[in-house]
Parts: sequence; structure tokens; C-alpha cells
Amino acid sequence: MFGAMARHIHPSITNGKQSNIVNLRPIMSIVKPTGKHTAAAPSMHVALGLNTFRAVTRASGYVKYFTTLPEPQEPTINTASIPGPKSLELKKKLNTMQLADMVNFFVDYESSTGNYLCDVDGNVMLDVYMQISSIPLGYNHPRLLNIFNNDTNVKALINRPALGFFPGKDWPVRLENILKQIAPKGLNNMTTMMCGSCANENAYKNIFIAYMRKKRGEEGNFTDEEMKSCMVNMPPGAPNLSLLSFHGSFHGRTMGALATTHSKYIHKIDFPSLDWPVAAFPNYKYPLEENERDNKAEDEKCLAQVEELIETYSKKDRPVAGIVVEPIQSEGGDNHASPEFFQQLQYISKKYDISLLIDEVQTGGGCTGKFWCYEHFNLPSPPEIVTFSKKLQLGGYFHTSEYRPRETLRIFNTWMGDPAKILLLEEIINVIKEDQLLDQVQQSGKVLKTGLLQLEKEYPHLVNSTRGRGTFLAIDFETPELRDTVIAQLRKWGVHAGGCGKQSLRFRPALTFREKHANIVLDRLRRVLYET
Ligand SMILES: Cc1ncc(COP(=O)(O)O)c(C=O)c1O
Repeated sequence: MFGAMARHIHPSITNGKQSNIVNLRPIMSIVKPTGKHTAAAPSMHVALGLNTFRAVTRASGYVKYFTTLPEPQEPTINTASIPGPKSLELKKKLNTMQLADMVNFFVDYESSTGNYLCDVDGNVMLDVYMQISSIPLGYNHPRLLNIFNNDTNVKALINRPALGFFPGKDWPVRLENILKQIAPKGLNNMTTMMCGSCANENAYKNIFIAYMRKKRGEEGNFTDEEMKSCMVNMPPGAPNLSLLSFHGSFHGRTMGALATTHSKYIHKIDFPSLDWPVAAFPNYKYPLEENERDNKAEDEKCLAQVEELIETYSKKDRPVAGIVVEPIQSEGGDNHASPEFFQQLQYISKKYDISLLIDEVQTGGGCTGKFWCYEHFNLPSPPEIVTFSKKLQLGGYFHTSEYRPRETLRIFNTWMGDPAKILLLEEIINVIKEDQLLDQVQQSGKVLKTGLLQLEKEYPHLVNSTRGRGTFLAIDFETPELRDTVIAQLRKWGVHAGGCGKQSLRFRPALTFREKHANIVLDRLRRVLYET
């Protein structure tokens, strides 16, 4: 329905001006063996403007009853460039109040639907970035819209409690339900927070609490000296402990989390930080099948460094209390490590009796084809802590009961999460199960990955290193500039993707991304590579 109304304008045909309705169908099927394209014959069809469409859907009760606009069949681009004029105007306004340089464009969230994001200029893009990997079911999923179409839930939305002190009567049952359904095996406690940084920041404190408790013994109490010295940030009350993290990692931007973040200097410069050990993360050669020996040696080199650093920091009197690692380094460039690497890392953490925290903020929630990415690693036992946010809508972490502080107010803040987000999370989990979205992710991911590998063959001088699990995929470009150009060009062709690391393009679609969406992405990427 929406698709039949869509306008498609080839930037080169319209020469940058808004013209009448020209429909370009995906041209994947007419790629010549040389890799050259033949432009499809434009076909005309009746088009309604977005405003008319909205009026029709409103009149028919769509908005009132919180059903969702049907997805268009393909993207529609109306403006010669993105951001378009309306976005630019809004950006100018926003810039008078705050730095808005990073704003790509402004979004019409009311009109966005499913896998398609609509900007304020009426451009409808297939979104494979999904608000930095944080929208699980696409835009305006009817099941989520209807959550707040209910008096009780609206009251949960507006009466936000200080959960640590005054939780609502349904809170224990809701947490129990979440724990039963998605808690990593063996982690039977859940601490809720607000965002990914806040989850990691507090989980790090749990690691230090557990470490010091072990050191003091279960019955040990805080000494007077500890209680006094911690008030001026000095040992022994504020002990010189450390966490080991990896080059290329991203764990957030609050001060503690930032001390374990090492992806870009601009995130860190000018902020005082901590002398904590940073080990190399494997840097694999692709394709994996052809580079097994080198990649195995890479694993061994990095693991040896982890042990060396643990020893060095122990001698330096700044012992390592835990290891913090992403199952796939995401912001840092979609850097992968093998299951064997993670198994060995866990072995090292056990050997030194320190904690292993797996940061699933970006990878958690099903996008790798399993609910938690680390499930791909066959670890002999669960990690001590798994942190989450993004697709799960609120931040927090799962942990074993040993990591629960014995004293109150040590892990605490005003909100401690948000019950309204738990309502969404419950329904997200229901939909993932009912619609078998993990299977869907595996299927559409396979189509996308196979297509990307094919593009590598067609354009080996431009793209390489296709990698990933499920739809959590990435591809590298020859240069950072080329990556940026391709992302901008893709947008003109109606595909909204994101970058990561130095020269990678990352795919972070919703779990509702299907094979047909993968084919559109591949078609548009092929056009862009051809034109580059
Ligand atoms: C792996 C990982 N950890 C932590 C964070 C920080 O999350 P937030 O931006 O919600 O603070 C991110 C954000 O991208 C992330 O990717």
C-alpha cells in the first residue's frame, strides 16, 4: 500500500531537483557479468504525498488504534542531498542552543515504520543502523505502541519511581519474569540501570566490592582507616585496584567506563583517567578459512599479553580485579575474536581468581542470532557479569549472587532503571519468541553476508573483510574516506547505514529485518560501488 505510493528519484536523473515520480526498481537482477549496471527503465505510477497518506491513515483510525503504517516496498528519496532543507533548518536552530554538528538529519518518528525511517524532508530510508543498534523491532511496532494504550501502563510511564527505595507492587514479578526468560545461564541476579555506560560503571563497582570482600574474608569489616581514607580518594579505603580492558574497546563515556574505552582519542582527550592495563585484542586476517594459522597466533599473542599485564600490575601494587571485554568490539570496528580466545580468556580469569565481565550492550538482544553473543563461544561456565542496554531498552547487568553487595547504598542511584522500559522489554521478548526472530536474524543475516562476500569478489579493490554473526555484520573499505563516501552515497540511494572503527561499515538492522530487506541493501550497495 505505502509502497505503491512511493516516489523514487534517481539523483542523477533529477540532477538534484525534486522532480515528478520516477520509479527505479532494484537492479540486482540486471548486473552484467562485468559488474556494470544497466539502468532499469523507469516506470511511472500514481503517487500520493506523505501528507495525504498520513491524512488517509489518520482518518481510517490508524493512529488512534495504534496500528502501524505498513512498510513501503522500497526506499524513497525526495531531496537532492541528505540532510534535506527542513533538516538543515532545524539543525541551524538546534545549533543556537547546543553543538549539533553530529546531527545527520531530523527524523519524523511518527511516520517511520518497521525497517523504514522517515526524515523530516519525506525521505524514507531502509534503516540498517537503527539508532546505533538500539531498536529491536523496527519503528512503531504495533505491539509496543499498544503497551501504553492502557491506563495501568500509562501510570507506570508517568509515575517514575525511585526503584531502590519505592518500587511498585508489580516490580519483583516483572524482574522475575525477565530473569526467567533472558538471563544468561547461571546469572540469577539482575541490577537495572539507565544506559550502557551506567551499567558498566556500576558493574565495575560490583567487581571491586567482590574482590575486596574476598580479600577481607566474609566476616571482615571496614577499618577506621579505610573509612577515613576513602573520603579523600586515597588507599586503603580507595584501593589501587584495576580492570584489564582491550585496545579498540568501547565501554562507555562516564569516567570509570571511559578508563576502559580505547576506540577513539576524541572520546578521551583532556579527561583524567586511571592507570589500568590495556591488552591487544586480536586483529584477524580475512577470510578466516584462509588465515587460520595467523589468526591462531594472533589469539596466542594477545592472551600472553593479558597474562603479562596481570602479573605486571600485581607487581606494581595495582592488582587486576577483573577483565572487561566486548564479545565483538563494535564501535572499535567490529573486531572479532574466536570462541577459543574467549575460552582462554575465561581460563585466565579463573586462574588469577578475578572477574570476567562481558559487555553485551551492543551485541545483546538477538542480533547475532543468539540472544547473547557470548553464547556462540561455548564457555565452560558463565561469565561473572553480563551488561546490557540498547535493544533491551534499559541498561543493567546480570550477575551471580556472589556479586551482590552485602551493604546497601553501594550500588544505587535515584531511578535505578525505569519500569516503563521493562514493560517494553517484556513485550519485545514476547515478540522475539512468537515471531521466532532469532531464526529470522540467522536467515536474513545469511543472505546479507553471502551477498557482501559476493560484492567483495566483484569489487576487491574497494571492499574486503566481510565478517559477523547473524545480521551483526561489517565490511571494510580500502580507505576511511571511501567508507565515508559510500555511507553518504548509500543514503542517497535510500539505505541508512553507519560506520565504525577506522574504515568499516556496520550493519545493525532491527530483528525484523528480512531477506527482502537484505536484497535491497545489497542492490543499493552494488550500485554505489559500481558508481565509485
Ligand atoms: C559495547 C558498548 N558498551 C557500552 C556502551 C555505552 O552505552 P551508552 O551509550 O548507552 O552509555 C556502548 C555504546 O555504544 C557499547 O557499544
